[in-house]
Amino acid sequence: MNANSSGSLARILVVDDMATNRALIRAVLDPREFEVLEADSGETALTRIPILRPDVVLLDVLMPNTDGIDVCRRLREQEEFRLLPIIMLTSLGSPDDVVRGMEVGATDYITKPFNAVELTARVRAAVEKKRLTDRLDDTESVLFALARVVEAKDGTTGDHCDRLSHLSVVLGEALGLPFDDLEALRRGGILHDIGKVAIPDAVLLKKGKLDDAEWAVMRQHPSIGAYLCSALRTMRRTVDIIRYHHEKWNGSGYPSGLAGNDIPQLARIFQVVDIFDALSSERPYKPALPREEVARILREETARGFWDPDIVSIFLDILENDPARLDIPANAVRGRDADLFRNLTGDVMEWRDRR
Ligand SMILES: [Fe+2]
Repeated sequence: MNANSSGSLARILVVDDMATNRALIRAVLDPREFEVLEADSGETALTRIPILRPDVVLLDVLMPNTDGIDVCRRLREQEEFRLLPIIMLTSLGSPDDVVRGMEVGATDYITKPFNAVELTARVRAAVEKKRLTDRLDDTESVLFALARVVEAKDGTTGDHCDRLSHLSVVLGEALGLPFDDLEALRRGGILHDIGKVAIPDAVLLKKGKLDDAEWAVMRQHPSIGAYLCSALRTMRRTVDIIRYHHEKWNGSGYPSGLAGNDIPQLARIFQVVDIFDALSSERPYKPALPREEVARILREETARGFWDPDIVSIFLDILENDPARLDIPANAVRGRDADLFRNLTGDVMEWRDRR
């Protein structure tokens, strides 16, 4: 009944160190509807998930070595598994497991000992969700690729978007934000300037100062970007970053002239890392500034009322006491859109760079 239109069964991976638990779930899930796969440890699950490509993961929390919380966290760090339904199997009387699971991005949880009807219903709902997000994923990929086109067109910022994603998430974590907000920050790093796709090249790539009319056009990019992404409900929190990333704490920004806490928090976080990255990167019109100088300018602009002082203070704390966290780790998993774009446009970019 739950086989998809091509007739294939939903693939369910059961991760549990206890063979009896795995067998119990296998006995409950109807083989006409589900193909049940097994992993007997967290490590095995992490190795096999990229190969098996399950539709849903049923993940025991309590396992030796790599437990369910670790497995979930590590899967969510990988772009391709961010939307994979993960149902945590928690023991009755361990409400903390539920909270910890949700914090690292679990989709749902089932308390053991489970009810067979409930287990089937939850798994079936998760399979439906997976099939919807698979379709959604395609739409999102187009938006991300479009954002990369904008980034490449500009051509002066290198890996600006990837750095912004990383820096926003580091700052979001320092502020103790939940998974959904960190995910919105990660996406916002890539998508914030997507609206520039509608800005004419004569304005976008103009060397020298923009006149008033050109500025009026340029200032449309946050609203255009928000409009482009607003059709996707999964982008709801990201849209706030896109729409409000040029507002200022004292109300002097655009497009809405919001001030203080009226500017959504995610946008305020993004602004701080955006200005940090702009100051610390080389641009055609300026060298990369040393970090002490960047910190001084950030403080000065905060005193002038541009940025949220509390967020700046937390960011400066990381900059001064733990600056290595701000560098993208060498083993970071790059977004599928980034690799795709690079592979497809290598010759174009090379031609542009030679000119
Ligand atoms: Fe912008």
